Amino acid sequence: MSELVDGSVQLMVTSPPYPMIQMWDELFAKADPKIAKLWRTLEANAEEETVRQIYNAMHENLAKVWAETYRVLVDGGIACIDIGDATRTVNGKFQLYPNHSRITEVCEKIGFTTLPYILWKKPTTKPMYKGKGAFLGSGFLPPNAYVTLDCEFILLFRKGKLRKFPPKDALRYESAFTKVQRDEWFSQIWTLKGTRQTTSQLERRTAAYPEEIAQRLIRMFSIKGELVLDPFLGSGTTTKIAMQNERNSIGYETDPNMLPVITKKIGKGNRATDVTIIKH
Ligand SMILES: C[S@@+](CC[C@H](N)C(=O)[O-])C[C@H]1O[C@@H](n2cnc3c(N)ncnc32)[C@H](O)[C@@H]1O
Repeated sequence: MSELVDGSVQLMVTSPPYPMIQMWDELFAKADPKIAKLWRTLEANAEEETVRQIYNAMHENLAKVWAETYRVLVDGGIACIDIGDATRTVNGKFQLYPNHSRITEVCEKIGFTTLPYILWKKPTTKPMYKGKGAFLGSGFLPPNAYVTLDCEFILLFRKGKLRKFPPKDALRYESAFTKVQRDEWFSQIWTLKGTRQTTSQLERRTAAYPEEIAQRLIRMFSIKGELVLDPFLGSGTTTKIAMQNERNSIGYETDPNMLPVITKKIGKGNRATDVTIIKH
């Protein structure tokens, strides 16, 4: 994010591609030849160690973005990362890949302070049996069934110390939330439906988060006029909601096909001029 100088962003709100979730395999493999090579090795040998290496490499890839985020945040700036864990069966073995705990460890190593996180509870999908999406007859018998992943984590980190403001800072007071909002937004479980994906293949690929998530995080952790960053912009949800709340925003997206989707989302008359398309 070389366009951004050190300490120039007040808030980061994002959702990266999720390691070990199949829909993002190809993207990680394209981003890192080491990952592509490891997948080929796995096809040949199906070793658990190779899977572990793939998982590690995916997180090393994301870690570069967390480190850049740390650099560009102001002292006291907040980073919000929406991430789901993954389950996967490889070589007949089903297991959890706890992306949320790996990202927490990585961010702490970078220097972030970990804050209490939010659990985004989605309406329940079907319980799983042996890693498949349905309980069959024997699913009623202990002990071989698995708990369904129906929550995502909204991880919260701070760079450095608490931000300081002059007394009665006008924009800060203008950005206040109500008591009802505070009680709901600062509770740990948010029950929200996922975003209805449109029929377009392109938009489905974005895996957009609900606007309500961006709305709450932007209102909770930034002030009118400040700069909100989304390093994995996707369809542009963060930018749209930042604009609606009188914040500036900057987003990065590697898939150039997203540009018309972003432009459409942020509305007619707004061009996605803040979006940097990175060419590989
Ligand atoms: C989970 S989606 C983000 C969805 C977004 N929150 C929304 O509401 O539309 C992750 C996005 O990150 C993009 N991406 C992956 N690697 C990237 C990178 N290194 N830099 C920027 N964008 C990247 C993907 O193309 C994808 O669109």
